[in-house]
Amino acid sequence: MSGTSMLIHLILERFSWHELLRVPEPSLIMNNPAQITAFMESGREDGILAFTYFYHALQATPVIHPGDRVLDLACGPANQLVQIARLNPNAHFVGLDASSNMLDRGRATLARCGVENVDLALGDMTQLTDIGDATIDCVICTMSLHHLPNLEALTSTMREVRRVLKPDGGLYFADFGRLKRASTQRFFAHDRLDSQIAQFTQDYLHSLKAAFSVGELSDAFEVLGPGVVRYQTPLAPFMVIFKSAIHRGLDISTRHLAQELYGRMTTAQQKDFQVFARWLRIAGCSLPCVLS
Ligand SMILES: C[S@@+](CC[C@H](N)C(=O)[O-])C[C@H]1O[C@@H](n2cnc3c(N)ncnc32)[C@H](O)[C@@H]1O
Repeated sequence: MSGTSMLIHLILERFSWHELLRVPEPSLIMNNPAQITAFMESGREDGILAFTYFYHALQATPVIHPGDRVLDLACGPANQLVQIARLNPNAHFVGLDASSNMLDRGRATLARCGVENVDLALGDMTQLTDIGDATIDCVICTMSLHHLPNLEALTSTMREVRRVLKPDGGLYFADFGRLKRASTQRFFAHDRLDSQIAQFTQDYLHSLKAAFSVGELSDAFEVLGPGVVRYQTPLAPFMVIFKSAIHRGLDISTRHLAQELYGRMTTAQQKDFQVFARWLRIAGCSLPCVLS
């Protein structure tokens, strides 16, 4: 997350009238080993995505309660899931993904991190056939909706989420929104060219091109009713978050744990985290606790 050039791109986005068409991901379900490795390494504790994972873990935590059964749709290599599960040791998580190769990496992540409150399962988020009606306390999904092929699949996913979620269940979804300018997409994908694997750069650009627009996402989320609030990064919808309208702080032990995990990040990661958090805070999406 770099300063001046990012701001220039965002201002140009804000005043652009142009709309880019969506270009679906070339690999919707991620089965390619090179692609999986690039994504998995980028999400590890020392990886380029670690600060965003920590951000989403913190933001998801107020919608999760002790004892909850939480479903993570399209969990990938479980780097995000591990961060959320660590912050919520008294909830039980099921990570679902349509790629068995990805789930193998997910199992390796869980073993490496020693996280035990997570199970992984093969499944398609557009048809949650193995999950009963109103059996899930909370559904989370990060950086995955853009892997769906089209609006029909997005709508089916949201209908399934409504079906499996308990009536007062929690929700935390985060994904890219579609930007207006190809050069802004390239800027974000290339921003950290020196520190990211070439495969990751290519996949990052594909992800930004495959993002649904804010309008498309909002229409699809309507089925979940008025209790869901949308936040998006100001000037351009680089990140769009849909979250249950729950405003509760974290209990003291979770706050201490969050501070400890924050303290383990490098200075550069902490700086990226703070820039990202500030950007979303301007949109009204505040963190559930202060970290320093
Ligand atoms: C970019 S990864 C995101 C993984 C993880 N949520 C994260 O934030 O790191 C997208 C994941 O979506 C999975 N996926 C794509 N289509 C799917 C579907 N219909 N059902 C379940 N998983 C799917 C892919 O296999 C891939 O693991």
